[in-house]
This record gives sequence, C-alpha cells and structure tokens, in this order.
Amino acid sequence: MEKVIINGELIERKDAVMDIEDRGYQFGDGIYEVIRVYSGKMYTAEEHLKRLYKSAEKIGLKIHYQKDEIKSHAASLIEENRLDTGIIYMQFSRGIAPRQHAFPLEDTACSYIAYTREMPRPEAMLDKGVKTLLVEDIRWLRCDIKSLNLLGNILAKQKAAESDCYEAIQHRGEIVTEGSSSNVFIVKDGTVMTHPATNLILNGITRQVIQKLCAENAVRFDEKEFTVEQLLAADEVFLGSTTSEVMPIIQVNQTVIGGGVPGTVTRKLQELFSQHIQKDCTLLQNI
Ligand code: PDD
Repeated sequence: MEKVIINGELIERKDAVMDIEDRGYQFGDGIYEVIRVYSGKMYTAEEHLKRLYKSAEKIGLKIHYQKDEIKSHAASLIEENRLDTGIIYMQFSRGIAPRQHAFPLEDTACSYIAYTREMPRPEAMLDKGVKTLLVEDIRWLRCDIKSLNLLGNILAKQKAAESDCYEAIQHRGEIVTEGSSSNVFIVKDGTVMTHPATNLILNGITRQVIQKLCAENAVRFDEKEFTVEQLLAADEVFLGSTTSEVMPIIQVNQTVIGGGVPGTVTRKLQELFSQHIQKDCTLLQNI
C-alpha cells in the first residue's frame, strides 16, 4: 500500500484527507520542492531543503519542522514505498483557516504533505534531445520563490504540449527567462550562458550543480541575460531540472539547433551530471 506524509505522520494514501479551507488549495498560498530519488537515495537533498526554508521565509510562512525531521520523514517514505528511481514531492501551505486573504492567526500551523512517485530517468530524450516552443513569460515578479502558484507555468507548458513540444521556453520581451518547469541554457563558442539568478527565474538546484560542474571542469559559464535571437543562433541549447536533468534541446519553434543533434558541451555536462548523481547518491554502495 502506498504511504504519504500528512503533517509529519506516515499514513496510507487512501486515508489522507485535506481540509477544503486549506490555504494551499484555496489560494496556492504555500511552497513546494521536488527532489529526485536515485537508487532509493535523495539527490541534493540538502540544497532542496535549504531552498524550501528560503522560499518559506520569503512568503513569511513558518515551517514548524526542523530540516532533519523533514529529511528523516522523506527517507522513511522512500523506504516504506520501496522507491528506487523517482521523485519525492513535498509541499507546505499556510494552513487551514476561514477563507480571507490576509494571513491567518499566528498559531495556525502550516499544512505539510509529501508523497513519492516512480519516475525513470528520461533516457531516450536525454539521448536524442527535445523540441521546445517560445512562449511569452506572463508570470509574476517573484519567480525566485518556489510557490504553489503555477498557473503561468501551466499555461505555458500546455501551449508547448499542444504543439507537441516537451517544454515552453519563456521570454519577457526579447529576454529569455526560463522554461515552464526548468532553467534554459545556451552554448555559444564554448561558453554556457543562462539567465542570472534574479527575481525573474527560479534558481534551480540542477542549474547550481551545472554551474559548479562547469567551474570544476574548465567550462566557461556566464550568468548573463540572452535574447531570443541569441537563443535561435546558439550552437547548443539545453535545459536543466530535477526531473529532466541535463536535457538537450534540438529545436526551438521551427529553428533546428546544432543540426538537430545534442552538442559536445551538452554531452560533456550530461556525463559530468551522471557522475555527480553517482557520487551524491553513492550508487556504487547499492550495487
Ligand atoms: N521544476 N524553473 C522552474 C520554473 C521550475 O519549476 C523548476 C523545477 C526549475 C528547475 O529547478 P530544479 O533544478 O531545482 O528542479 C526551474 C520542478 C521539477 C517541478 O515543478 O516539477
């Protein structure tokens, strides 16, 4: 039987109940994280949990649980559900209270849920690359917060899906910001470029790992805005996210990138990323 976590308790999914006046449900008033699980181990868990508390702080939400408690709940859930390769989703809302926009009383506890899902690595797409669609970024101005409010992202992703594309690449005017659920990178003359970590994008954990891997392996990395024109003229384009890893992009709208095959820098980063997963999840110990 599949288990989930509700407010720190490990229970059967079929017994999980959420109040209809939970603020996450009514307002999207909360935050979340998606953590990859490889060989039953959480990948970059510390980084994700740090960002979780940062997001909470940015919206004035008090998480009444310590980081280690959440980590240990997550580990128990993974074990109970016998998850090997997949994700753990966790969300914290500002709790249950009569519906009014302003924050509820001080002593209203946050609501905390978590569940796991099996999700294999997207190997075929990692190998061949994916198609993407340009979409105007209509989201709010605090995209740095991993908020439950994802309507802008959802509408962008839906447009991409309707065009048979894997991801929407969002842009504010001429400037490319990020994907609907990923960060976007271009490679030009050997330099990797991505939007700076401002309020206009989510500073992805995958993005941070890629940045570190570039620094450690003498790949030039520039956190700098780039335009739609630069994107279309790039040597290579890829996206980064927890679920997609380092995903080659071989087409943007009708423009084929890099002759329609993943480029050498992207391939190198994929390789380094896989090694980092092995190291972080100590896969070798599980063989
Ligand atoms: N999405 N930008 C946006 C808007 C995202 O939603 C995500 C992640 C990222 C990449 O962040 P990370 O590398 O930490 O996963 C960038 C998650 C996976 C999701 O919503 O499912």
